[in-house]
Amino acid sequence: MTLQAAPEQSAGSSDSGSKALYGGKSTRRVTVHDIAAAKQRGEKWPMLTAYDAMTASVFDEAGIPVMLVGDSMGNTHLGYDTTVPVTMDEMALLSAAVVRGTKRALIVGDLPFGSYQEGPVQALRNATRLVKEAGVGAVKLEGGERSLPQTELLVQAGIPVMSHLGLTPQSVNTMGYRVQGRGDEAAHRLLRDAKAAQDAGAFALVLELVPAELAAEVTRSLEIPTVGIGAGAETDAQVLVWTDMVGLTGGKVPRFTKQYANMRQVLGDAAKAFAADVAGGAFPADEHTFH
Ligand code: KIV
Repeated sequence: MTLQAAPEQSAGSSDSGSKALYGGKSTRRVTVHDIAAAKQRGEKWPMLTAYDAMTASVFDEAGIPVMLVGDSMGNTHLGYDTTVPVTMDEMALLSAAVVRGTKRALIVGDLPFGSYQEGPVQALRNATRLVKEAGVGAVKLEGGERSLPQTELLVQAGIPVMSHLGLTPQSVNTMGYRVQGRGDEAAHRLLRDAKAAQDAGAFALVLELVPAELAAEVTRSLEIPTVGIGAGAETDAQVLVWTDMVGLTGGKVPRFTKQYANMRQVLGDAAKAFAADVAGGAFPADEHTFH
């Protein structure tokens, strides 16, 4: 089952620019039907992760149409070494904050490790929690064929599903962190997984750390959009972890990330300037003081 674009958003409409996911005129919440229509129009769109209301509101005002409350929060915001320890309570709390901070973006909540692997019923219970408690418009889960029963049940229940193939960080203990889909057999397996996810009803597919040529082939063969991260330029959309994108992440940043700012430097400099002002007695000045 593949989602059809809403009729008023079909390809070739004279005002397709005003319907654009990024830069369009609509101020209502983006839906999975808008995502399907963008694929038909051939529109490329941006997705960012978000983990709190304030940052999400900045991205919403910047026109980012889809935000992922990724389990990458484990690394970026919760201080874990991997995404594996992230819990449903943590995911529900941060997803709700992101939903509250936004008016327009479609918010996708990640199902963390251990919240869907037991089977479809467990997946439905946890996805339902993210929809009802946090207010997300869709959920994401890792795996193609191995997660098909979960995807099918969620879609049947009315919960849009974004699938995730290639490098799937929840499997770091078996997979490691390396490019996936290299070699004929691995490439065929990934293509099979991608089609299976689409057939199960997924509305979009994240491709992480996959050779560009393979990601392009998957993108051409699917009706649903692909969202690349380290998957080359031919996917329908691109996603980055926001702390990598603005240079806030410390240490080594993946090669596929582009840094659009140096927030680590900006924040560090601001903290040092504040500390120096306090230590030297320059803050608070009279204009910051009540009499
Ligand atoms: O958790 C996450 O941020 C993700 C993206 C890297 C796609 O899964």
